Amino acid sequence: MTSSTVLITGASSGIGRALAQRFAAAGHALILVARRESALQSLAQELRQSHGVAVTVIAHDLAIAGAAASLMQRIEAAGLQVDILVNNAGLGFNGAFIDSDLAQVQSMLQVDMIALTELCHLALQGMKKRGHGRILNVASVAAFLPCPQFAAYAACKAYVLSLSESLRHELRRENITVTCLCPGATATEFHDVAGNEGTLIMRMMDSPEMVAEQAYRATLAGRGMIISGWVNKPLPFFLQLLPRSWAMTLAGRAARRQAA
Ligand SMILES: NC(=O)c1ccc[n+]([C@@H]2O[C@H](COP(=O)([O-])OP(=O)(O)OC[C@H]3O[C@@H](n4cnc5c(N)ncnc54)[C@H](OP(=O)(O)O)[C@@H]3O)[C@@H](O)[C@H]2O)c1
Repeated sequence: MTSSTVLITGASSGIGRALAQRFAAAGHALILVARRESALQSLAQELRQSHGVAVTVIAHDLAIAGAAASLMQRIEAAGLQVDILVNNAGLGFNGAFIDSDLAQVQSMLQVDMIALTELCHLALQGMKKRGHGRILNVASVAAFLPCPQFAAYAACKAYVLSLSESLRHELRRENITVTCLCPGATATEFHDVAGNEGTLIMRMMDSPEMVAEQAYRATLAGRGMIISGWVNKPLPFFLQLLPRSWAMTLAGRAARRQAA
């Protein structure tokens, strides 16, 4: 699979944009998906010029029920196939669950879990027929413990990690690999959307380019899980040593906005 077609969701900014740049630099054709078409078009133009790769832009809202099926229909209608699926689109909201806007929570569940799951299922059908494929699902270090202030988001990411590990096991004889990326805090628009300004999380950020480089290598190597950033890597080990309630208290403090 030296020059496969890679579908990247959430390619209009942050980690998805950096992943698009990394896959393009390696000569892969791309299908870029997000809602902001102008951001996707300017990235596509830049990648065609600098790397000479084919780039297809599909503006698509993954928060709508059935979005994954309609996206795959658009991809098939364009005569394309998905050799590598990168389920990166995602969002979270900082704040107490009881005060959250339920419509926002539902749309987060739809993007972070449902569209991701449906895209895995749909893309896997073609991968199985062709006898090869790779999936990269983007979770978070929040997948490793419940996180007060990010309760539903952390639960979504725990789901993504669990799903990815199970799929990887089920597909181990199919020449299809499933990799789960668990980034720590990364300097992207995620924190503007989430409302994270003034939190401890914002004090130690990785660059999206570094995260994308590590994720790209792990995906091509067929690794099961990658925690990006050397500071984050030992996190699951240290969390095991702490009582769960202490770990949650620390996570909740890191996510709480400091008084100005
Ligand atoms: N940044 C961090 O600290 C961090 C840490 C751990 C995990 N992550 C995960 O990393 C992934 C990428 O996030 P990021 O940090 O790169 O944030 P970002 O810069 O905000 O990028 C999020 C991407 O998702 C797309 N998206 C959001 N809602 C969408 C929708 N309804 N339909 C289609 N696309 C949608 C956005 O595009 P449009 O707005 O154009 O639709 C954007 O391209 C997410 O899954 C996030 O949970 C981030």
